[in-house]
Amino acid sequence: MAHPVAVVLAAGLGTRMKSSKAKVLHEVAGQPLLGHVLSAVAAAGIEDVVVVVGHQRELVIDYLARKHPQARTAVQEQMRGTGDAVKQAMPEIHQDASTVMVLAGDTPLLTASTLERLIASHEDAGAAATVLTARLADPTGYGRIVRDEAGVRRIVEHKDADEGTRAINEINSGLYLFQADELRRGLDALTTDNAQGEEYLTDVIGWLVDEQLPVAAYVTDDPDEIHGINDRVQLAAAGAVLRDRLAEHWMRAGVTLEDPQTTWIEADVQIEPDVVIRRNTHLGGQTRIASAAVIGPDTTIIDGVVGEGATVLKSHVLAASVGAGATVGPYTYLRPGADLGAGSKAGAYVEIKNAVVGEGAKVPHLSYVGDAEIGAGTNIGAATVFVNYDGQAKHRTVIGKQARIGSDSMLVAPVTIGDGAYTAAGSVITEDVAPGELALGRARQRNLPGWVAAKRPDSPSAEAAEAAAED
Ligand code: UD1
Ligand code: CA
Repeated sequence: MAHPVAVVLAAGLGTRMKSSKAKVLHEVAGQPLLGHVLSAVAAAGIEDVVVVVGHQRELVIDYLARKHPQARTAVQEQMRGTGDAVKQAMPEIHQDASTVMVLAGDTPLLTASTLERLIASHEDAGAAATVLTARLADPTGYGRIVRDEAGVRRIVEHKDADEGTRAINEINSGLYLFQADELRRGLDALTTDNAQGEEYLTDVIGWLVDEQLPVAAYVTDDPDEIHGINDRVQLAAAGAVLRDRLAEHWMRAGVTLEDPQTTWIEADVQIEPDVVIRRNTHLGGQTRIASAAVIGPDTTIIDGVVGEGATVLKSHVLAASVGAGATVGPYTYLRPGADLGAGSKAGAYVEIKNAVVGEGAKVPHLSYVGDAEIGAGTNIGAATVFVNYDGQAKHRTVIGKQARIGSDSMLVAPVTIGDGAYTAAGSVITEDVAPGELALGRARQRNLPGWVAAKRPDSPSAEAAEAAAED
C-alpha cells in the first residue's frame, strides 16, 4: 500500500509555555518540537506532509521552508478545535490519497518505528480508522477510549466525561490513521455540541462506528512517545528522554560515555566506535567524531569535525576541524574556519578563527590566530597575536613551514613569513620576512647602571642591589 499523507496539527498557541514563541518552535535536543515529529514521519517513509499552522504562522512557515521544504502548509485562522484544524488540511490532500495520518506537532518523543507499527496494524485490520492509544496510571486531561464487546465505540474528552468515563485509563494519544474518504465524510458531520464548543476530531471516531465502519485501536507499550509538551517542565523532561535515548544508541554503537547524564548529543551527530566522551560534553549540529578521539570533559562541539585519535579537552569548537592526532585545550576556542592539521596543537587559552594550521604545527599558549595559514611544523610562541583587523577590513597572515615565531610577537597582517624564518620575542612584525631570516621588530634594550641607588635610595630594592654589589 502507498504511504499515508501526514497531517501535522501545529496551529495552537501553547499558552502554558508562557512564551512569545509558538510552542512547536521550542527546541529540545537542538531541534524544534515540530522538527522531531517531522523527522519521525520522514523516517517512517512518509514524504507527503501537510502542516496546519495558525498562531505565529509566519515563524512556523519560515522554519519549515528552511528545514523541511517538502512540507506543505494549510492555515487555520481560528482555533475551532482539532476537527476544524484537519478540515483546513483536506484541500491540500490529493483526491487519490487513500490514507491520512493525523498527528500533533508537539510530541518530540514519537519514533518512526511506532508509526510503522501503527500503519501495519491499520492495514492488517482493514480499518476505516485506527487510533493509537495508551494505558496511563493518570489519564487526567486526555480523551478516554470507550469500548464495548465489539471494540472501540467512541472517544470522550476529559471535560465532557462523567465520573465513570473518567475512570477509564486507556487514553487517546491524538495520533490516528483514517481512510481518506471516510475522514472527509466524518469531518462534514462534526458539530460543536460539547463542553469546549469546538469541532472535535475525536468525534469522527464515534461517527464511523455509528456508520458501522470498522474502527481499531493500537495500544502503545511506550506511553512516553505520545506525551505532548505543554510547558517548560515537560520540555526539559522530554529533552532528558531524548538525551538518554541517544546516549544509549551511541554506547551500543561502541562509544564510551563517561557520564551519560551530562552528555548531550544531538540527533545528527556521527561518532565512530572507540571514541571516549567525558562528562559535561555537548555535541551538536552536524558534528563528526572519528574513532579513538577523546572529547571532554567540559567541551562543546557544534558542527565540528574531529579526526582519529585527536583530543579535545575543556574547549569550545564551532564549525571547525581538528585533524587526526591533534590536541586541543584546555580552554581553547576554535571558531568557524579553524582547520587544524594532523598532529597539530592548539593549547591553553588559544583562539583560532578562519585559519589553517599545518600538520604538526603548534600554537601552545595564550594566542589569537585569525585569517591565517600556518605551515607544517611551525611553532607559534606564547602570547602571539595575529593582528588581522585594521579597524575596517580583515587581512591575512601567511607563515611557511618550520618557522619559529617568538613569544609575544604581533604579526600585523597582511604579512608573509617564509619557510624556516624566525621572529624575535616581543617583535611587532609589519614587513614580510624571507625564508631563513630572523626578524627583530622591537626597541633595543638600554640599561642605566646605578639608577636605583640614585632614584630610590632607601628602598628594599636599593638595599638588595647594594648587598649584591658587595658579594
Ligand atoms: C486532544 C484530543 C484528546 C487527546 C489529546 C492527546 C481532541 C478533541 N482531543 O486533546 O482526545 O487525548 O489530544 O494529546 O482532539 N490544534 C490545532 N487547532 C485547534 C486545536 C488544536 O491545530 O483548533 C492542535 C494543537 O496545536 C495541538 C493538537 O492540535 O498540536 C492537539 O490540540 P490540544 O488542544 O492539545 O488537544 P487536547 O485538547 O489536549
Ligand atoms: Ca483543546
